[in-house]
Amino acid sequence: MQTADSARALFPGAADAPVAATPSRSLRSRLARAADLFAWPLRSSHYLELLNPLWSTHTTWARVVEVRDETADARTLVLRPGRGYPAHRAGQYVPITVTLDGRRQGRTYSISSAPGRPPRPGCFAITVKHVPGGRVSAHLVRELRRGDYVALGVPQGEFVLPEVARPRLLLLTAGSGVTPVRAMLQELAVRDALADVVHLHWAPRAADVIFAHELHALAASHPGYRLDVVTTREGGAATVPGRHLSAELLDAYCADWRDRDTYACGPRALLDAAATHWATHGREDRLRIERFQPVLAPVAAGATGGRACFRRSGVVVETGAQQSLLRAAEAAGLAPAHGCRMGICHTCTVTLRSGRVRDLRDGRVTDEPGARVQICVSAVAGACEVEL
Ligand SMILES: Cc1cc2nc3c(=O)[nH]c(=O)nc-3n(C[C@H](O)[C@H](O)[C@H](O)COP(=O)(O)OP(=O)(O)OC[C@H]3O[C@@H](n4cnc5c(N)ncnc54)[C@H](O)[C@@H]3O)c2cc1C
Ligand code: FES
Repeated sequence: MQTADSARALFPGAADAPVAATPSRSLRSRLARAADLFAWPLRSSHYLELLNPLWSTHTTWARVVEVRDETADARTLVLRPGRGYPAHRAGQYVPITVTLDGRRQGRTYSISSAPGRPPRPGCFAITVKHVPGGRVSAHLVRELRRGDYVALGVPQGEFVLPEVARPRLLLLTAGSGVTPVRAMLQELAVRDALADVVHLHWAPRAADVIFAHELHALAASHPGYRLDVVTTREGGAATVPGRHLSAELLDAYCADWRDRDTYACGPRALLDAAATHWATHGREDRLRIERFQPVLAPVAAGATGGRACFRRSGVVVETGAQQSLLRAAEAAGLAPAHGCRMGICHTCTVTLRSGRVRDLRDGRVTDEPGARVQICVSAVAGACEVEL
């Protein structure tokens, strides 16, 4: 399997090579089926991939065509996928896979550009903030270069604009949570639908605001888009009472919040506060939340980890009550299939053979042999054996 690093090794100088045109999709698939007969045990796609990764049909590759620093720790990558890659809706995310130290690592990133308003034709952008200690974000922000390749899944997610011509919106974002909302704003601007949108964004300092220049320019040129930035370490905006989301802040800043479709994306504290507030007022149907991390239940007193046996790999590890089986397997040198790492995509699901596992999101214990277990959000509860 080719990945970003190995693709770079296989395709030196790819950054300077023009992107080759692909044959039409139907013709290509007919030719590929015929060629597969001669390529066995591989597929013709494996050989096409050597010529140009974007021609591969067994893995979807995207070439990094532009790298742009947004802040000191956030970077936009403009990606060009092969032809036939499905269009996304503003607000959706995409699974990205890279190879680090010989191991495939998958993470999920919101697409930060609007469809039809790409940074370049046929491209889309993701914007990644470096998480301290984070493996993949460090690679994407600090190491990936123009001309490298990443593997892609298809765009997905329900954090998308309502089907209304000119929606009345309240946008609540913080840090890298602005990425899907930036795609929405671009989309609304292109549709001339930025008529009544209130956007409150939180960041530690003004210099940390991702897309600051673009967002302020958008607000200056669109009277229907009101933007305020609260800088929590430098003092809040004069127009916003208080530094954190609260009932007082909302009532004073956006008195008609109940009547707006609200989209929130950012750290857990912001999203939990929004969820509680909207639910308290019976307006949860007007609030959409995009989380970048799973919400984990507090670990019950007396909960223990234990011994996890990864049956197919023949690996046994001792892990803690809070460590997911996915992280435990990775720490032991395994590379289980995974996508979102937060219980959404089900890519990591394996069969429980015996023992007990605890769902880290709600503390629920499963002990039925044959049960399907999402290892990214499950931990061992005593001992377990899973098909991995
Ligand atoms: C639907 C979705 C959309 C996303 N969109 C974006 C996006 O547009 N831009 C972006 O930068 N990230 C986004 N993420 C987060 C991204 O998928 C990774 O989780 C993030 O880049 C960290 O990966 P890592 O490998 O560097 O950290 P890991 O090595 O996986 O984790 C290192 C440590 O950091 C913690 N951690 C992991 N993620 C975060 C986080 N987001 N914030 C704080 N601590 C964290 C972990 O708990 C762990 O302790 C999105 C996630 C989801 C599920
Ligand atoms: S990796 Fe997506 S559900 Fe586990």
